[in-house]
Amino acid sequence: MELKDIGNTPLVELATFFENGNRIISKCEFLNPSGSHKDRTYLNIVNRLEEARIIAPGMTLIDCSTGNGGAALAWIGRLKGYRIKIFMPEGMTQERKAQIRLYGAEIVETPKELFLSGSVLQAKAYVSENSSNDVYYVDQCNCLLNKDGWRICGEEMVEQLRAQDVVPDFFVCAIGTGGTFSGIAEVMKREYAKIKTIGLEVDRSAPLFSQRNNLPFNHHSHNLMGLGAGVISANTDPNLVDEIRVVDGTGAWSRMKHFIESEKLPIGPTCGANLLACDELVRTLKNKNIVTLFFDSAWKYESRWDGLYPEYSEVNHVAGRDL
Ligand SMILES: Cc1ncc(COP(=O)(O)O)c(C=O)c1O
Repeated sequence: MELKDIGNTPLVELATFFENGNRIISKCEFLNPSGSHKDRTYLNIVNRLEEARIIAPGMTLIDCSTGNGGAALAWIGRLKGYRIKIFMPEGMTQERKAQIRLYGAEIVETPKELFLSGSVLQAKAYVSENSSNDVYYVDQCNCLLNKDGWRICGEEMVEQLRAQDVVPDFFVCAIGTGGTFSGIAEVMKREYAKIKTIGLEVDRSAPLFSQRNNLPFNHHSHNLMGLGAGVISANTDPNLVDEIRVVDGTGAWSRMKHFIESEKLPIGPTCGANLLACDELVRTLKNKNIVTLFFDSAWKYESRWDGLYPEYSEVNHVAGRDL
């Protein structure tokens, strides 16, 4: 596998969904080389930072991640000649940790009580203690090159939709940093004036949903890693979110398992979240084209196939506090 193998993923129609004349079409980002959509995120960030002469091979790049981002940065970094250090909350899946280490990166596990905000605090502390030119904090949450990279995927989807003669009515996508959602949504809105975009948050940590509905926001632990870090990231452009909905983590895990059985595509739990929202639309609409995305791969969760993260069941989180 090489860097040129990132992207150009298939856009597939999900046959088992055909109901009321609705069609569901999904972008298979789990087929990227490291098994997730984050290959695109980091390829764009690293390439653009190199072009701007902000980073260069030989440096140490650091970032925070629950696993997919860490693996993507570790793989890309190794191919390009960087040292990589990933700050990760305790309790993430063994598969994701093993993958990051296999690519030669170092993992610093941070206390579960603070979830990702603890990783951010430690990453920032590490940068200030090692403030030479050789260490760079990539910061996928705040670096807008994340969202920018997803425009490329949006353009790809537009071409593929045209080739299939499909005009999408809805774009449905879960939000973590929001880079994936916002980059694609921007292109979709430019190309399809009538499209409605639906962003999804996990119900136990839904800052944008809370903001839109004038509800107090509280972060609670959950089992949809990659979503719900407790903050609205700079890569989430609220103007591109026509509607925000919440998804239950346990339901998303069951939907993923049911889908793997029926469609034989090995997807991860946050893809189940996207499918749950598509199910809702399919039940209530007729003759609509709904576009969604599959983020990552089932194998990354094999050791947690029950969908439980006991480390997080009784933790009193403060993840939503100021970082
Ligand atoms: C499994 C999974 N799904 C969804 C997302 C959300 O992607 P984004 O950060 O681009 O919003 C992530 C992000 O880490 C993830 O790891």
